[in-house]
Amino acid sequence: MRTRPAVLFVCLGNICRSPLAEAAFRREAQRIGLEVEVDSAGTGDWHIGAAPDARAQAVAKRAGIDIGGYCARQVTAADFARYTHIVAMDRDNLARLRTLRDDHATAELSLLLDHVDGRAGSSVADPYFGEASGFDTTWADVCLGAAGLACKLGAQTPV
Ligand code: 4NP
Repeated sequence: MRTRPAVLFVCLGNICRSPLAEAAFRREAQRIGLEVEVDSAGTGDWHIGAAPDARAQAVAKRAGIDIGGYCARQVTAADFARYTHIVAMDRDNLARLRTLRDDHATAELSLLLDHVDGRAGSSVADPYFGEASGFDTTWADVCLGAAGLACKLGAQTPV
């Protein structure tokens, strides 16, 4: 059995929500001593190679995390075998991930907020076309999801 989980966070562009989820989860995993591989990706291809949106970088920076070095990429078929958990930010992206799975896929698919009590089935709202303050809501949501997921994986992973 594989002992080390590997988690891929997925949104549409990989420049707003999923990089923030990646950052929040890396911090949470470190805090609880969970050894885990972490990355993020987008279902869309518009922003491949780009750094996170400036508003996402700013909200992460206010939390003391520098995500300026992250680089957007698109989900690939290989991700479904490489990652144990693929975690979508919203229902549209979860539906898209289900269509991309092939016969070699082993990753468990979920929504980020499935890992938060009382929020199962909900999406992390897309802040891209909204006000900068929407990124504070995104950050709060991804921190809740990251904490819930890290706690579950920490309980499952043998020490
Ligand atoms: P994300 O936000 O999926 O959270 O990275 C978006 C980024 C870009 C676009 C839409 C959402 N876009 O249409 O370019």
